[in-house]
Amino acid sequence: MSESEERKLESRLREQEYFHPSPKFVGQANVSDPAVYDRFEDFPAGFEEYAELLDWDERWKEVLDASNPPFYEWFTGGKLNASYNCVDRHLDERKNQTALLWEGEKGEVRRIAYQDLYREVNELAAALRAAGVEEDDVVTLHLPMVPALPITMLACARIGAPHSEVFAGFSATALADRVDSADSDYVVTIDGYYRRGEFLNHVEKADKAMEEVDGDPEVLVWTRHDEPHESVDVSDDYTLVSDLLSEHRRETVEPVSRDAEDPLFLMYTSGTTGEPKGCQHRTGGYLAYVTGTSKYVLDIKPEDTYWCAADIGWITGHSYIVYGPLALGTTSVMYEGAPDYPHKSRIWEIAEKYDVDVFHTSPTAVRQFMKWGPEYLEGYDFEFRHMTTVGEPIQPEAWLWYYKHIGKEQAVIVDTWWQTETGGHLITNLPALKDMKPGSAGVPCPGIEPALLDDEGEEIEPATGQAGNLIIKRPWPGMLQTVYGNDERFISEYWEDFSDTESDDWRDWNYKAGDGAVHERDGYFRILGRLDDVMNVAGHRLGTMELESAVAEVEDVAEAAVVSREHTEKGEVPDVYVILREGVEENEEVRDRIVRAVEDEIGKFARPSNIVFVDDLPKTRSGKIMRRLLENISNDEDLGDTTTLRDPSVPEEIRQQVRSD
Ligand code: PRX
Repeated sequence: MSESEERKLESRLREQEYFHPSPKFVGQANVSDPAVYDRFEDFPAGFEEYAELLDWDERWKEVLDASNPPFYEWFTGGKLNASYNCVDRHLDERKNQTALLWEGEKGEVRRIAYQDLYREVNELAAALRAAGVEEDDVVTLHLPMVPALPITMLACARIGAPHSEVFAGFSATALADRVDSADSDYVVTIDGYYRRGEFLNHVEKADKAMEEVDGDPEVLVWTRHDEPHESVDVSDDYTLVSDLLSEHRRETVEPVSRDAEDPLFLMYTSGTTGEPKGCQHRTGGYLAYVTGTSKYVLDIKPEDTYWCAADIGWITGHSYIVYGPLALGTTSVMYEGAPDYPHKSRIWEIAEKYDVDVFHTSPTAVRQFMKWGPEYLEGYDFEFRHMTTVGEPIQPEAWLWYYKHIGKEQAVIVDTWWQTETGGHLITNLPALKDMKPGSAGVPCPGIEPALLDDEGEEIEPATGQAGNLIIKRPWPGMLQTVYGNDERFISEYWEDFSDTESDDWRDWNYKAGDGAVHERDGYFRILGRLDDVMNVAGHRLGTMELESAVAEVEDVAEAAVVSREHTEKGEVPDVYVILREGVEENEEVRDRIVRAVEDEIGKFARPSNIVFVDDLPKTRSGKIMRRLLENISNDEDLGDTTTLRDPSVPEEIRQQVRSD
C-alpha cells in the first residue's frame, strides 16, 4: 500500500468510527427486527429458534439439560441426521441447484448439484459401511480442499460415524498422533493435490503415519484424478475409494437417526500443553447453532452463491463451508489452490466467474491483498453483499481497505469472534441491526452472554472500556461436549479457572475462552488475543508447547523456548530460542534440523520464523523459563522488571545478540 493510501485510510478512520449497513442490505436481510435479541434472552428456550431450522426425526423434549455442569446436553430426546439435513431435505425444492461449486487450482470446475451430492454421499456411505465402518467409529480424514472432503464428512454423518478431519497441511506425525488419540480404525486420504502448479504427493504422509500409529487402521485412498497420479505409489495395503465405490453404484443408505447428543465430529486443536485436544461436537446443538448463525450472521439465502475462502480442515470450514451453508440449501464455493496462483487476481477472477454474493476470509488474507495493492482487483466485475472476517483481530486500516476495495463500500462486514471449541460465532454483529466498527468484533450473538473477569476471577463492570479475561456465562448449543476421551482435561482447560467446580448450578460455571478482550463503552467487544500459550499464525492455531517439544526432539538441542512475534501480515509468527548441548557449535545444519523437526512433527505451516541460539534462557530462581521476557525481546519491547531472575543480565544479553543478528 502506498503511503498516501495509508494516510487516506487513517484520516477516514479518524473521521468515522461507525459504518452503517446500507438500506438496500437491511431491506433484504434475513434478520432485521431487533426483537431477535430479546427473544433469545428467554434462555434457553430462545435457541429453539435455531433448532426449528432443521428437520428432526423426533422433536426434542428439553432444550437444555444443565443438571451436570459443565456437561450440558442440548435438545435432549431429539433425533436427527446431519447428512439428511444438509442434502436429502433439499431435493424436493432444489435438486438441480448446485450445492458445492468446486474450482481446482488449474481451473477445473465441478458443479455438484444437490441431487449429485445425494448420490455421491449415499454411495460413499454404502462403501464405508462395506469397509467395516460402524456407527460411532471415529473416521480420521486427511483431505485437502477437494469435493472428496465434504462428501466424506457427509457420508460419515449419514452412518453416524464421527469424522475427525486433520488439516492436510499437518505432517505424518501430527496425523498419527490424532489417529491414536481418537482410537480411530479408519483413515481416509487422497493420492495428492495441486498447490502452486505442482502435484503434491499426499498419501506418503499416511504411509509414514501408519508406521507410527499404535493400531492398524484401514486406509482408504481417494484419487485426485480418475486414476492414481503417475508420480505417486499407493500401497497395496490400502483400498482405493474408487474401487469401493464401483461396487456400490446407485446404492442408497438410510440416514441413521442420531440422538441430538451423539457426536458429529472431532476437531483437534492446540491448547496449552503439547497434546492437541479433540474437541467433540454434538449433532443437534452444533448443527442448529451453525445453521442459525449462517442464516442470521452470514445472511445466507438458498439462492446465494456463498464463498468462504477458508480450508475445511479447520473449524471455519466445517461450520461455514459445509454444515451451516448446506443445511440452508445454498451454493457453497470451494477452491483448491493458493490465492496467488497463477496470479494475484485469482480470488477476484473466481468471484466474478461465479457471481459470488457473500464472501468470507481472514484478516491475514486481507492484509495480503492490501500489500499486493488494489490494482489486482481492477477490471474484475463482482459485487459482494456481505463479507466476513474470522480468526484474528483485524486492524482498522485492514478493515477499511477490505470495506473500500473489496466491498466497494456497499457490502457489510461482520468480524466474527469464535473458536474451534465454540462451534460457531459467539461475538459478532447481526449485520442489519448493528453498525460496523473497524477493529471490533461487536456485540454478543443472540443468547450469548460474555463477560470479562480480572485475574482474581472478579467480574469487571460491563461496558467500561476495561480489559479482562473473556468468559461466557451461559452455555450455548454449539459448544464442545468435551475433549474426546478426557473429561478432566475439558474441565481443567475451559472451566476450572473461573468456576465453582463444586457447584451443580450452571450459573456458577463460566467457560474460559483463553482470550483477552476489552468491553467498550458502546457495548462492543474488542478481542485482544490469546492470554495463554497458544499463538495464531496466519489464522492457524498453534501451541507453543507443541513447537517446543518438536524442537526439543532435535539431538544437540539442550533447551528451547518458543514465543510469538508480531508480524505485519501473518499476525503472529513463532520465534525459537535454543540452547545447544555442551560442545555443539551453532551452524546451518543444526538450524535446518530444527526447522525440519517442526515440519515433521507439526507441518510446514508451523515453520519458525527466527531461530536464535543463546547461551542461557531467562529463568526464575526456581528454574522456570520466563517466556514473557523473550516475547518482549522478539517484539522489541521494554523488558520491565527482571530482578526476580536467577541471572538478571540474561535478557539484556539476548537482546543485544538479537539486535546485532
Ligand atoms: O484468539 C482468538 C482468535 O482465534 C482463536 C480461536 O482459534 P481457532 O480455534 O483456530 O478458531 C479460529 C476460527 C474461529 C480465538 O481464541 N480469534 C478468532 N476470531 C477472532 C479472533 N481474534 C480476534 N478477532 C476475531 N474475530
